[in-house]
Amino acid sequence: MTIALLAPLYPWLKALHIVSMVAWMAGLFYLPRLYVYHCAVPHGSIESERFKVMERRLLKQITTPAMLATFGFGILLVLTPGVIDWSAGWWHVKLLAVLLLAGFHGAAPGWRRRFLEDRNTKPERFYRIANEVPTLLLLLIVVMVIVRPF
Ligand code: HEM
Repeated sequence: MTIALLAPLYPWLKALHIVSMVAWMAGLFYLPRLYVYHCAVPHGSIESERFKVMERRLLKQITTPAMLATFGFGILLVLTPGVIDWSAGWWHVKLLAVLLLAGFHGAAPGWRRRFLEDRNTKPERFYRIANEVPTLLLLLIVVMVIVRPF
């Protein structure tokens, strides 16, 4: 199913999709980094309380709205006539990588809550490794949509 009315908006939808995706990625890169720093400060310290505020704002005011906008503009692009070839392999790999990215995003509130309640038990190393996940998925997605290798 496509919507003919969307065709003249195509470049705008794509521009807004890319801007939202950059904001989403910025949030997903920075959140685990905040958790890495948060691991290093004592529970109840002023620094710890400051990290809690930063984590809440980054997740709720930037990262989640940016994810919703990326999905919204992405779905409008899918509904634009002639944009998606459902038989292309790269498109399915991109979608899978996007779902994994959303799953990673879905884990972030649970981590935030544990820090918020001063009961994080995961080591700094866990968040350092988690930090690499969005980078790898972004690389995969951009190669799929730009190189379209298959
Ligand atoms: C529900 C999620 C998403 C959907 C439905 C979606 C869908 C689309 C569609 C239909 C296009 C247009 C392709 C074309 O013009 O031929 C597009 C372009 C693009 N998407 Fe997504 N996308 C999603 C998420 C993402 C994410 C998470 C990223 C990056 C992390 C991303 C990066 C891009 C880029 C860089 C382009 C431009 C490619 C080009 O110049 O043709 N998208 N997306």
